[in-house]
Amino acid sequence: MSKKAFYVTTPIYYVNGLPHIGHSYTTIAADCLARHKRQNGFQVLFLTGTDEHGQKVLKAAQEKGKTAQEFVDGIIPRFKEAWAKLNISYDDFIRTTEPRHVHSVQHVLDRLHKRGDIYEGVYEGLYCVPCEVFWTDAQAPDRVCPDCRRPVERIKETNYFFRMSAYQPWLIAHIEAHPDFIRPESRRNEVLSFLRNNELGDLCVSRPKARLAWGIPLPFSPDHVTYVWFDALVNYISALGYPEDKKKMDAFWPQALHLIGKDILRQHAVFWPIMLHALDLEPPRMIFAHGWWQVGEEKMSKSRGNVVDPLAVIDDFGIDVLRYFLLREVPFGLDGVFSRASLIKRFNGDLANDLGNLVYRSVTMIEKYFAGSVPALRESDADAYAGENILPRLRTLSADVAGHFDDLDFIAALEAIWALVNACNKYVEETKPWNLNKEGRSKELAVFCAVLGVSLRAVARELTPFMPDTAAKILEQVGGATVKKAAPLFPRIEDEQR
Ligand code: MSP
Repeated sequence: MSKKAFYVTTPIYYVNGLPHIGHSYTTIAADCLARHKRQNGFQVLFLTGTDEHGQKVLKAAQEKGKTAQEFVDGIIPRFKEAWAKLNISYDDFIRTTEPRHVHSVQHVLDRLHKRGDIYEGVYEGLYCVPCEVFWTDAQAPDRVCPDCRRPVERIKETNYFFRMSAYQPWLIAHIEAHPDFIRPESRRNEVLSFLRNNELGDLCVSRPKARLAWGIPLPFSPDHVTYVWFDALVNYISALGYPEDKKKMDAFWPQALHLIGKDILRQHAVFWPIMLHALDLEPPRMIFAHGWWQVGEEKMSKSRGNVVDPLAVIDDFGIDVLRYFLLREVPFGLDGVFSRASLIKRFNGDLANDLGNLVYRSVTMIEKYFAGSVPALRESDADAYAGENILPRLRTLSADVAGHFDDLDFIAALEAIWALVNACNKYVEETKPWNLNKEGRSKELAVFCAVLGVSLRAVARELTPFMPDTAAKILEQVGGATVKKAAPLFPRIEDEQR
């Protein structure tokens, strides 16, 4: 029987700087989903990559006195190192400068041009260079970019346009018919009300080469290069070998789950489905737009200069602590504030007091009472002696966690795991094993230690997608027939000022 396919993507990141906590967030969330699905038998394709064309990247290269190609080639290894350090298990990494991608984009352009969905026209209007976005006079009456507030330029030039307007009614109907297509619901409503209340213009998909040379040439007009977004979005199918690799396309399209930040919702929920529809392809299964990590009141971003370097955070706290914090602290979909104080609070509470403590005390007791060999669990005994909160949780944990993953509710998945951790800690306190030992009630003591052993293995299994190293460490200690004691997993951090 062939495995069920699961295709998850991150945005492809601009390479004008290194990834910060915001980029890490999307990538860690995708990684966690990919690991969970792999562990549950799915055939997973987890795609990430880099968006290497366009004005921003060219500018960053020029500032460093390099050609664009030299610049991007130099930065990609550092991107990959950062993802390796964060334990990101991507299956494919696509670069928009790769021949496979360029080929696919040119095919898309050519096909849409032949169908008459791309046509030549004159563009006149305002343009924000850093954002690479066109604005009308009405949108930018004060001549500054409505997004970034920097001055816009007036330009008039021959360009190519994608007939998006023709597909507006189709898109509205598609969103209406597929409640899970855009999530969370607030974002879906936002897109729907935008589409219902505004007439979509056609999308300018080219830039004159004279103004911007760093892009994919239009196959039918060598004087123009492709607009970065029209280039970038295609990555989700160029990585599947579109159009030639029919097998890979069939396996993974339209399964795609696109994880994005809310800043790039319109491109994904409006431009992209229409591009696909014009190509006679299905829209992706789901677009999930998460919120922003902020520092204080402001979005964390390169242009605001307030970015937190994930590698510095992991130097201080460890990879898994960052992964845990990002997915546990803020509901996926809402904004959150990144601070070391809240990270330390999670560390000392959930990780040191709850999880670390449970592992440490369980291993200690199994060593002490059973010379390190984990007693086997007989279900009939377990029902008689185990804390009533534990066994029902243990039996449904995997299914509960899987359900929360399908819902992209990372917090609920972690809460389900922690409910078992906390039930076990309570079980230790209520059972008072030291008394059982003193009174020679060895059968009860054996059930007690066996339940802890089984529970910790279940916890480690479900925790693996979130905290792969920690889960492996737990299994090193209690995964086998005999326990192997190790230092506490998360020694408390006393200095809250760190
Ligand atoms: N290159 C485009 C995406 C093309 S996808 C076909 C782009 N790149 S980006 O480098 O600016 O990265 C944007 C993504 O990074 C956001 O959509 C989001 O996933 C993530 N984040 C960047 N800053 C963020 C925060 N402060 N908080 C959370 N995520 C944010 O846009």
